[in-house]
Amino acid sequence: VKEKELIRGSWESLGINKVPHGVIMFSRLFELDPALLSLFHYGTNCDSKQDCLSSPEFLDHVTKVMLVIDAAVSHLDDLHTLEDFLVNLGRKHQAVGVSTQSFTDVGESLLYMLQCSLGQAYTAPLRQAWLNMYSIVVAVMSRGWAK
Ligand code: HEM
Repeated sequence: VKEKELIRGSWESLGINKVPHGVIMFSRLFELDPALLSLFHYGTNCDSKQDCLSSPEFLDHVTKVMLVIDAAVSHLDDLHTLEDFLVNLGRKHQAVGVSTQSFTDVGESLLYMLQCSLGQAYTAPLRQAWLNMYSIVVAVMSRGWAK
């Protein structure tokens, strides 16, 4: 119960500004794995990190990712209702060449963004709460990926 409150409380402020926080996440992700840039074929726009971060399609995807996180936060009490959606999402990413390791790297980047944005409020229990929730999301997406 405590975990859910930590997640909801922190998302209250971040979730209203999805794009800038998502951009922090993906900037971090491309630092961890620059090869991921090549998976975004939005025109010929995504040759470099800067090109990618300024492409509208890329920012749409950032919004999509943030909306999935938003959905997970809203459904903390009944995450299983997102199961079919997440299985499908995992399958779609398999089709576009994203590995399940990259899902995990997105989690690292999510924690990095939380740390940057929350400052002092980023505590060990909060980190763990987010990690637990995101791990469930990744597990279900990975199940769809392997199907
Ligand atoms: C769709 C790449 C991670 C959520 C896509 C598409 C690409 C892509 C190329 C199709 C084009 C588009 O809709 O923009 C990647 C890469 C990732 C990644 C390289 C790096 C690991 C994630 C994660 C989530 C996510 C972690 C959510 C937690 C979505 C959604 C769609 C999508 C909701 C739209 C699916 C649909 O059209 O039904 N992704 N993705 N992506 N991605 Fe990702």
